[in-house]
Amino acid sequence: MEKVMQALNLGGKDAPQEPTPQELSELKQKYTLAGQSQVFTFYDSLSSAEKASLFQQLSLFDPTYINEIDAKARSPPKTEDGGVAKPSLEPLPDSARASIMDSKKEDIDRWYAQGLDLIAANKVGVVLMAGGQGTRLGSSAPKGCFDIGLPSHKSLFQIQAERIRKVEELAAKKAGTGGNVTVPWYVMTSGPTRGPTEAYFKEHKYFGLKPENVVIFEQGVLPCISNEGKILLESKGKVAVAPDGNGGIYNALVESKVLDDMKKRGIEHIHAYCVDNCLVKVADPVFIGFSASANVDIATKVVRKRNATESVGLIVCKNGKPDVVEYSEIDPAVAAEEDPKQPGVLKFRSANIVNHYYSFRFLETIPEWAKTLPHHVARKKIPYADLETGETVKPTKPNGIKLEQFVFDVFPMLDMSKFACLEVRREDEFSPLKNASGTGEDDPETSKYDIMAQGRRWLEAVSGVTIVSDDFKAGIEVSPLRSYGGEGLENAVSKDKTKTFVAPAVLEVE
Ligand code: UTP
Repeated sequence: MEKVMQALNLGGKDAPQEPTPQELSELKQKYTLAGQSQVFTFYDSLSSAEKASLFQQLSLFDPTYINEIDAKARSPPKTEDGGVAKPSLEPLPDSARASIMDSKKEDIDRWYAQGLDLIAANKVGVVLMAGGQGTRLGSSAPKGCFDIGLPSHKSLFQIQAERIRKVEELAAKKAGTGGNVTVPWYVMTSGPTRGPTEAYFKEHKYFGLKPENVVIFEQGVLPCISNEGKILLESKGKVAVAPDGNGGIYNALVESKVLDDMKKRGIEHIHAYCVDNCLVKVADPVFIGFSASANVDIATKVVRKRNATESVGLIVCKNGKPDVVEYSEIDPAVAAEEDPKQPGVLKFRSANIVNHYYSFRFLETIPEWAKTLPHHVARKKIPYADLETGETVKPTKPNGIKLEQFVFDVFPMLDMSKFACLEVRREDEFSPLKNASGTGEDDPETSKYDIMAQGRRWLEAVSGVTIVSDDFKAGIEVSPLRSYGGEGLENAVSKDKTKTFVAPAVLEVE
């Protein structure tokens, strides 16, 4: 029957073939030598197609390398002194940071103009990290497809696509090029999110962007490992795998030839961000101009830590290098210290929001260091095949780990002179969607509220506009196609053509 299917090509042109006995024995030996032969427990009972697919999956990994990174992740190598001395932690030096809150207007205007010029010259590209599985949100579709409940029901992907369209338009207008501006959008997905993401973009006609300028690519996966260090099977014929973390972006940019595409297009400045931030200013001209004029290789946006105990990662200077530390790594007394130059403001206040600028020349060096990025342990409940029965079991508590790289682990590779940090307003730029509806924090309701509140603030700043509402929390959804960052709303009128808006309301394109 299988022969017939092959002859008729019903198994699909690229359907994997069952290995020869020689190939199988070589692979088995590799896994046996690495102490991981359990992955073949059910091999002999599988159908020919299942054997072929398991063989193909296992061939992708080097079990010795997996053992190595697993061991390192569980007990990270100590520093030269055996981890005795506490690292020196300082805020970034003033030379490496600026804040939107206290920069001069003329500086911000200059960065904005420079950024728009670079966009107009087609030198700016955007990389979206959308390979996560969004387990806390609990939606089966990729996070970017999520409808946060705005009156327009736009998804996160649509909001971001429209911001790209708008910034292209603003850049073209400034340069007088009449629309010939492209900001390519590189969308990183993973095994679980690629198919549905591609289908979603097609179904929605790329939200008005040209399909050739939306490049969907895929990051790698790694096997999930039991608490005892064994590679887990998800079912008899399938290894349990998970995306290799947002730090997988670096390998993926090379492997999927995104860097080649950037080179071909002449991209020199890259904005990279996370899919779940509904307020993200995609290809933000201010950030691009700030980073490019400082001639740095990486820049990062931060928001101000709310209070001494907020559990956020912080951008700091650790042993003289730019780095991220977890809140737990900072002594509570140190976390509460005030900035001597700004009484009432925390000394360590730069909260990491995973929103980065890269120079293309830096991304070109990825092959030199990508293998040295550490892996981190994420303890998870991983469905696994019971090796006695072959049944898939859904554990109720964490039974293993996923190995993840972090996108910011590259920071310490840089000299401080090649790194910069821009503090931005949280209410304008950061509202992550992490949790399921009703959680009360970083959930669809807070995302919706933050967008609507921003639109309301933008309109309230326009002379002559009045906003009325019964509910003080009701806001205005301003379409990104109408305004990128609050600009161009002077002539905005409500549905009844007056300057009075009844919130909640939507302001679409004219
Ligand atoms: P999170 O670490 O918050 O993960 O990702 P998540 O998948 O969104 O949610 P949980 O933890 O499963 O609930 C932060 C950003 O990094 C991306 C995510 O898509 C999100 O934009 N990411 C995460 C990747 O692109 N790849 C990964 O392997 C992990």
